[in-house]
This record gives sequence, structure tokens and C-alpha cells, in this order.
Amino acid sequence: AQPMPSLKDAFKKDFGIGTALNNAQIEERDPKTTAFIARQFNMATPENIMKSALIHPKWDTYNFEMGDKLVEFGKKHNIKINGHTLIWHSQLPSFVRGIHSQDSIRTFFTNHIKTVAGHYEGKVFSWDVVNEALNEDGTMRKSVFLQYLGEDFVTEAFRLAQQAAPKTELYYNDYNNEQPAKRAGCIALIRKIQEAKVRIDGVGIQGHWHVGKVPLKDIEESINQYAALGLKVMFTELDIEVLPRNFQGADVGQRMTANEQSNPYPTALPDSVQQQLAADYEALFKLFLKHKDKVTRVTFWGVNDGDSWLNNWPIRGRTSYPLLFDRSNQPKPAFERVMALKK
Ligand code: G3I
Repeated sequence: AQPMPSLKDAFKKDFGIGTALNNAQIEERDPKTTAFIARQFNMATPENIMKSALIHPKWDTYNFEMGDKLVEFGKKHNIKINGHTLIWHSQLPSFVRGIHSQDSIRTFFTNHIKTVAGHYEGKVFSWDVVNEALNEDGTMRKSVFLQYLGEDFVTEAFRLAQQAAPKTELYYNDYNNEQPAKRAGCIALIRKIQEAKVRIDGVGIQGHWHVGKVPLKDIEESINQYAALGLKVMFTELDIEVLPRNFQGADVGQRMTANEQSNPYPTALPDSVQQQLAADYEALFKLFLKHKDKVTRVTFWGVNDGDSWLNNWPIRGRTSYPLLFDRSNQPKPAFERVMALKK
């Protein structure tokens, strides 16, 4: 049999192809999975292990064990690592909840960035320095950082990261920042960083979209507008949800039981949805190729459907099918359509 074609090879001259990696994958618990990852991807982002709750569990305690393993994994398999993420309002260490002064938040913020970005300088290719700082209307999201440090915390985070990691690329990352209002807020944030003469190298559009509703026009406008700021544009957490988000909603049908409504396709995706998913991925990659001078990386949020966070969101125990490979790492129609663009 022919070996399965490789995404990273097909798009080699266009942009990097990345995946999120979980603990089992980083620890290489299954050699077949490792070989598959090494064949398909040349970039990776840790799905959880570099988030502050995990990497900085106590005031003066850092846990670099898994992150260091990831760095080794990258070296061994020729995969560039994107650190995720230094400053995020979510998955914070529990001790941060007990901090109620500006001084102490500033100390945490400064120490965290210096220590973590410093530890991985020369070892990771890039950092998502700040993640998800914006609301849908483009204003700043409520967070412990906004509350105690004010809006400048974003610029400050990049300043500290630049000092600790002068050779590492530094990115702002968010979801829905291809939507016009949020994009305007994102552009304003980036301009502030640039006006302060602080370095920012790129912007990540996460790309958590929904089947049949991928906002291609907004995505293209965003690629152009972000690139016009002199930034690299990346799609950093790509997946296309095929399950209804409002699982009690009308689009699932009224005669289904509650369980069927929440998990409508427990064994297989209906062909019509499979085809729509394939068409959506094809259209997206067509657009990425059209703008390959601006788009530097496309990262999927998981290797295969079984890895996806969407199996557990908005409720646990669903069976979702948002990626290019099925639960046995077999290519889906979406993979074929994407690869056909390079034939
Ligand atoms: O590791 C524990 C395990 O010990 C425990 O038994 C289990 C029970 O709940 O939880 C496990 O931790 C979970 C972790 O994923 C690892 O599976 C957390 O509860 C769960 O909250 C966590 O979810 C992650 C989520 O971020 C947290 O916000 C997802 O894996 C991860 O895919 C998701 O990724 C985010 C990006 O970082 C930022 N953009 C959105 C994206 C999707 O939400």
C-alpha cells in the first residue's frame, strides 16, 4: 500500500503545519502515534502543560518537566514548538485567587513571564505571550490582570517577554478575532504595543469554527488587515465543530432523547455533514494558500477527532469529528480535499 501523504510535506513551501499535543503524545506512550505526528506535522503547541496553573503551581515553584519533554520531542522529530501561553485569565494557579493587591499581582506577572520565557529561551520557537484578552465587542476582557494592572498589562507582558526571550517570536492569540468588532479591538491592542516600541511578531487567529458557517470573508479581511500591521498571521487552534452547540436547539430535531440531542452522532458522522466539513476545510486552505505570503502557520487543535476538546465541550462525553483524521488516524474526506489542492 502507498504510505499516507503528509500535510507538512504538501504545504512545505507555503506555511507550517502544526498540532496541539497532549501529555500522552508528548511522552510518546504509543510509538505509532509518535511516528504519525512526526510525519504529518512540523510545528506543535502544548494543549495544556505550559499554562500557568500547570507550569507555576506555587509562588516559588515551577514545574518544567513536561515542557522540557516537549522541547526534546520537538528536537527529535524536527517540530518547532510554540509556547502556550504566558498570560491568560484562565487556568491560572490557584494561589493567584488569594492575591488581592496590585503589588503582588505585578510580582506574580513579572516573575512568571521572566522565569518561564527565560527558561525556554532558545528552546521554543515562539510564545503566545497573551491569550484571549478581548471581549467580543473589542473591549478588554475582565481579568485579574486588567483589574490590578490596567489595560497596559498587554504591552507590559510583551516588554517582559522580549527581555527574557529576545530570540523567540512573540504573538498575541485570540478566538473570534476575525470578527469585525473584536478585530478592531485586536488591531488597537497591537498598535499600542507597536507604538510603545515593544516587539510583537505575529497574531494568532485560533479558528474554532462551526461546520457550514466558516466566516471566509471576515477571515480574508483579517489576514489582510493584520498583515498590514507588519505581523505574521497564524491559524493557531483550527477545528470545525460538527455538533450543535445549542444541543437542545431546534436544529437537532424535537423527537430525539436528551442524550441523542447532546451526542447526535455517537458512532459516525452522517455523509452530508462529512461532505460539508470537507468543503469547509477545502475553502479555508484555498484561502490560506492565496495568502501564503502572509500566513506562516496553520495549527490544528488536536491530532485526531478522538483528541479534540470538543468531545467535552460544552458538556462532557460527546463524540465530535472536527479534524482531518479520524479516531484511528485515518484520513477523512476533508484531508483528501485539502491535499488535492496541492496536486
Ligand atoms: O488533567 C485533569 C485530570 O487529571 C482530571 O481528571 C480531569 C477531570 O476534569 O481534568 C483534567 O484536566 C482537564 C484538561 O483539559 C486536560 O484534559 C481540564 O479539566 C480541562 O479544563 C482542560 O481543558 C482544556 C481547556 O483549554 C481549558 O480551558 C482543553 O484540554 C484545551 O484544549 C483547551 O484549549 C483552549 C486553549 O488553551 C485556548 N483557546 C481555547 C482552547 C479550547 O478551549
